Amino acid sequence: AYTPTPQDRFTFGLWTVGWSARDPFGDATRAALDPVETVHRLAELGAYGVTFHDDDLLAVEPDRDKAVERFKGALAETGLKVPMATTNLFTHPVFKDGAFTSNDRDVRRHALRKVMRNLDLAAELGATTYVCWGGREGAESDAAKDVKAALARYKEALDLLTSYVIDKGYDIRFALEPKPNEPRGDILLPTIGHALAFINELEHPERVGLNPEVGHEQMAGLNFVHGIAQALWHGKLFHIDLNGQHGPKYDQDLIFGHGDVKSAFFLVDLLENEGYDGPRHFDYKPLRTDDAADVWESAAANMRTYLILKEKAKAFRADPEVAEALAASRVGELAQPTLAPGETLEDLARDDFDPDAAAERGFHFTRLSQLALEHLLGVR
Ligand code: GCO
Ligand code: MN
Ligand code: MN
Ligand code: MN
Repeated sequence: AYTPTPQDRFTFGLWTVGWSARDPFGDATRAALDPVETVHRLAELGAYGVTFHDDDLLAVEPDRDKAVERFKGALAETGLKVPMATTNLFTHPVFKDGAFTSNDRDVRRHALRKVMRNLDLAAELGATTYVCWGGREGAESDAAKDVKAALARYKEALDLLTSYVIDKGYDIRFALEPKPNEPRGDILLPTIGHALAFINELEHPERVGLNPEVGHEQMAGLNFVHGIAQALWHGKLFHIDLNGQHGPKYDQDLIFGHGDVKSAFFLVDLLENEGYDGPRHFDYKPLRTDDAADVWESAAANMRTYLILKEKAKAFRADPEVAEALAASRVGELAQPTLAPGETLEDLARDDFDPDAAAERGFHFTRLSQLALEHLLGVR
């Protein structure tokens, strides 16, 4: 029952299972993975697709043309799709002060060329989403970055890139991925909210949405489920990075559900009920302590956990006691407009509402929360 199939639309970045587990304090604990092997393994595990940074393709074959041919061959053999692609604008030392917002203008021009080149490949492989994670766009010192100028350059880059895909006729939309910090001390567009506001200033806002990551909002102490609900409300949930995180600390990129599992439950509930139809993309890192075989177990664990939570969320919604508790908590009443059709503010002023009496009414949220927890814990 928890065996994934391509219909579940699970996708993985090449860099996730392919992470060789080098961290700021220690060397790699695993060998580099061949993208061709990754494609075959993911297909065997029941994934729908694979995503990549331009540089991920070069993991074992330094010649770009050959690497692309090998990758295409593996896709053709397995039927795995490429719904999303992205650019590595953070590993090479040239990006140490950022890419689109580096103080160094030559670097900004180089970054645009690097993205455009990979956009052509993304379009060729059928990707419809292009992620922009600005990991190096930021600063450690407030003296070092003119933030207003940086945002103007960020906008300039996105205006140029959206015009590029429109001119080329590519069916591609961009998805900004917010993150509060790491690797920079402070990253620009740190949260879903910052990124949503930024999109409104762009020349082609309809071409730009979000790729929020579970752990990134949680690093900032924010509620990921609320962030996703708001992104959906704005029509801006173009893509999603699923993983796990234990609150505000370094970016853990744990397996989905292996961090705040209650939040993961309500997230799956939201995605499944709101008809999010994009890929369920896992952006996690296999534990540094895992070996080469464990990596595939961890990939499978992400999908299995999602499917378990999907079943739990469905059972929660189907439970008559939950329906009763939702009604008692008046959750549905919030969907009702505050003024009736045709009612005016004068009518409102004539109301004989008794705030003291209304203040006596409880909302019974404890019962509702406990029912959710019991579904999650498998005792209902
Ligand atoms: C992170 C980010 C990155 C990006 C990826 C796409 O964990 O800090 O999620 O993994 O998603 O590099 O550009
Ligand atoms: Mn992350
Ligand atoms: Mn991510
Ligand atoms: Mn990541």
